[in-house]
Amino acid sequence: MTQFRTVSDIRIFAGGADRLDGHIDGLCPNKRICMVTDKGVRKLGLLDGAISALTEAGYAVMVFDDVVADPPEHIVVQGALAAKEFDAGLIIGFGGGSPMDTAKVMAHLIGCDQPIEELYGVGLAKGPSLPLLLIPTTAGTGSEVTNVAILTTGATEKKGIVADALYADRVLLDANLTMGLPKMISAATGIDAMVHAIEAYTSLPQKNPLSDSLALSALSKLKGALERVCKDGNDVEARTDMLIGSMLAGQAFSNAPCAAVHALAYPLGGFFHVPHGLSNALVLNEVMKYNLPKAETYYGEIADYLRLGTQGANLLDEMARLKDATHVPQTLAEVNIKPDAIPMMAEDAMTKDRLLMNNPRVMTYDAVTKIYENIAK
Ligand SMILES: [Fe+2]
Repeated sequence: MTQFRTVSDIRIFAGGADRLDGHIDGLCPNKRICMVTDKGVRKLGLLDGAISALTEAGYAVMVFDDVVADPPEHIVVQGALAAKEFDAGLIIGFGGGSPMDTAKVMAHLIGCDQPIEELYGVGLAKGPSLPLLLIPTTAGTGSEVTNVAILTTGATEKKGIVADALYADRVLLDANLTMGLPKMISAATGIDAMVHAIEAYTSLPQKNPLSDSLALSALSKLKGALERVCKDGNDVEARTDMLIGSMLAGQAFSNAPCAAVHALAYPLGGFFHVPHGLSNALVLNEVMKYNLPKAETYYGEIADYLRLGTQGANLLDEMARLKDATHVPQTLAEVNIKPDAIPMMAEDAMTKDRLLMNNPRVMTYDAVTKIYENIAK
């Protein structure tokens, strides 16, 4: 049986956040809203138009802006308590992956009585959630349409909550919010979105026709738009294509989960705080090279769809070219990770069973070590 799930209401509207009161119909009868974001997004003023539109329309708005990258569990719990005390009827996640993931878990914690420590794993978050609207301000994570939230528990350990209860009720894609993104963030998050699509297309055993179709559409949007936004950050059409591509990839990997690229990328974020998109870009080519003998057919099909040729190697060449063209760092040395950290990272990567089980080729500790060594400098 193939089952495919996604968010049922997706709105694409450049400028929509400034008229947010028109996009929460039916979601918030008590007119009390908690917006979840981080201080960076708030300082950029991205929230201002939305808050004005909501308050002018008679909504009471509280802003929880304590979210940080790789959100720690205690901050999510703190946010949920604050929103509950405010009697919020709607949670709006506004920002990149971290605010959106935080908002998903907050909505669930407020909507039911499950303690957070019972939620980690697959399908363990059950019961009702508070209504949830997600508005991404970067194009990459696809978190707005996934049923996954990644939190940091303890000092460095990251744990995932994967459950249909985390799907948002509505998503708003507003390209205007992504216009000011620096080139490096646009490039790294865009490559992350491409990785989501590639890994969904090769995901075993949950690969399915709907995810395949979305992954291919995502890659064709992202491939064209990535270089355009790196050349001209104010190209609203390219920014919209990036958001749509990232969202399509999110729909794909939410139903055909990611694999070894993500498993090997996580230790870079967990131990060294390398941003998620950049971590994926760093390990991408070497993981694809390792996978190629088992993924030749799938990579070849993607290459063919993108008119790059019909060989798997054509896709690898294109991803390497895109990394060069967008000037993302290519080695661990460039992000200040020394070779002596490789055994620790390899051990950590091997614990990511949730991801490694989907990889088209079985990943071993030795293979992971070799991949890290090949990108060391
Ligand atoms: Fe990712």
